[in-house]
Amino acid sequence: MRKSFKSVALLIVVLLLTALVAACGKGDSKVSVGIVLPTKDEPRWVQDEQRFKDALKGSKYTTEILFSQGSSAKEKENVETLINKGIKVLIICPQDGDAAAAAVEAAKDEGIKVISYDRLITNTDAVDYYVTFDSVSVGAAQAQYLVDNAKGSGEPLYLYAGAASDNNAFLFFQGAWNVLQPKIADGTFKIANSSEAEALKDTKDLSRDQLSKIIGQVTTNWDPNEAKNKAQTHLTAAAADMKGDVAILAPNDGTARSIADVFGADSAVSSYVVTGQDAEQASIQYVIDGKQSMTVFKDVRTLVKDAMGMAVDILDGKDPATTGSYNNGKVDVKAKQTNVITVNKDNVQKELIDSAYYKASDFTGL
Ligand code: GAL
Repeated sequence: MRKSFKSVALLIVVLLLTALVAACGKGDSKVSVGIVLPTKDEPRWVQDEQRFKDALKGSKYTTEILFSQGSSAKEKENVETLINKGIKVLIICPQDGDAAAAAVEAAKDEGIKVISYDRLITNTDAVDYYVTFDSVSVGAAQAQYLVDNAKGSGEPLYLYAGAASDNNAFLFFQGAWNVLQPKIADGTFKIANSSEAEALKDTKDLSRDQLSKIIGQVTTNWDPNEAKNKAQTHLTAAAADMKGDVAILAPNDGTARSIADVFGADSAVSSYVVTGQDAEQASIQYVIDGKQSMTVFKDVRTLVKDAMGMAVDILDGKDPATTGSYNNGKVDVKAKQTNVITVNKDNVQKELIDSAYYKASDFTGL
């Protein structure tokens, strides 16, 4: 009798402890805002992670940042992990804009609000907000730099683009084309590496399909290695009149550095002007060293502030402020947009050091 009383008591204690541990476990894993970023392999997104961490210091909200490592399947898994941790808001930069629809639809089904971060998630109604830079103006700034630094007329122009799975790649190219096309038409530039762009050189406003054709031909997939291989192939195929002083539209810093290395190593290329984007630390050094001509500075601190500001508004039951909207193929997504800044050797100190984005000691030869 006493023995069985003892064991029942023991059982109750064990059960209570188990319940307590489970409750604690749940408490520990409660996260209010989930953040999913595309890959750690590109400095751009590691930069965003760091800026999120800086912004979240001392915040009363719990957040967790997961990386998708270039895989939409991993991205979906990350979203499911965060859903299971009880998030109320999801901030997500998709690896592939279309493929991410399934992940955010799963979040929407749980009543979670979704903020598309930097890249728009396309063809779904499960996106509530979009925080972004003015991506059309990124491309326009790159192209304007090439125009401003063109040497005479008939200068060979090499075109490169981002990944076709990224809506931004279309916006960047569209912005660049708006500025470049008249300068191709008036003979300032001649297209060196894209028969698709050549075929469309008299068309100012390109449709999505027309953009797809060009991007399909000159995509880097945002991969510096792919960019390098393409640049090598293009230079091997180029006739002598496509060398000399050249202009290169490179879509971002990672691809710009590898394309610049290839062009810099070709003795028949006497000079090149190459664009970039993101103000990655390695590219700022390239700009200081004269190996990359410019970059488009997108102040990630602002994007992070906007995204977290929206998330906190949602958690507090308020409507986040927006400045416009973007159509994602299915719905108009309310958006908050931020401007960008062209940076070259002349203003790198002012824009990136004086603004405390980087420390002077991060670079040599400033
Ligand atoms: C774009 C993004 C750029 C660049 C690129 C490659 O979507 O806006 O800043 O980093 O992806 O990851």
